[in-house]
Amino acid sequence: MIAIGSDHAGFRLKELIIRHLEERALPCRDFGAFDGRGADYVPIGAAVAEAVAAGACERGILICGTGIGMSIAANKRAGIRAALCGDTYSAELSRRHNDANVLALGARVVGEGLAMRIVDAWLDAPFDGGRHLERVKLISRLEESVLGGLGGGAAADCQRPQKCS
Ligand code: RB5
Repeated sequence: MIAIGSDHAGFRLKELIIRHLEERALPCRDFGAFDGRGADYVPIGAAVAEAVAAGACERGILICGTGIGMSIAANKRAGIRAALCGDTYSAELSRRHNDANVLALGARVVGEGLAMRIVDAWLDAPFDGGRHLERVKLISRLEESVLGGLGGGAAADCQRPQKCS
């Protein structure tokens, strides 16, 4: 199940993406906005993030004018790795390297055709795991430390440069 949400600026693109997901036989749950009237992106982004973080939906797609507000809001939720993508390469790599579980799009930035390609690239790319899994685990540890669960030590750990490959 894919959670999807937008503000007023992303409403039209959201409707098109829902149709696209339906054509791909991918079920989705619509968190609004339900029309083009003014809607703040924060609560809708937070609701989609919650659905994904809690496991009710496997992944989420969020759309606002630039995608920036939605990505900022979604990334406040622990367990969310929201990637704002304006090209298919970033969308693919956000899955393969970052295991991004939310895709953010800017309806005023990308055209509708490109948006669908970005969605497809993001949906179809697997997470590569391996060394990337270790880095995603570091993000989780950083989240825990920021939330107070592990104190400051883990944060320092996560911020120390790691041996890269
Ligand atoms: C709405 O005007 C706009 O600010 C919003 O859609 C989004 O782009 C914010 O980041």
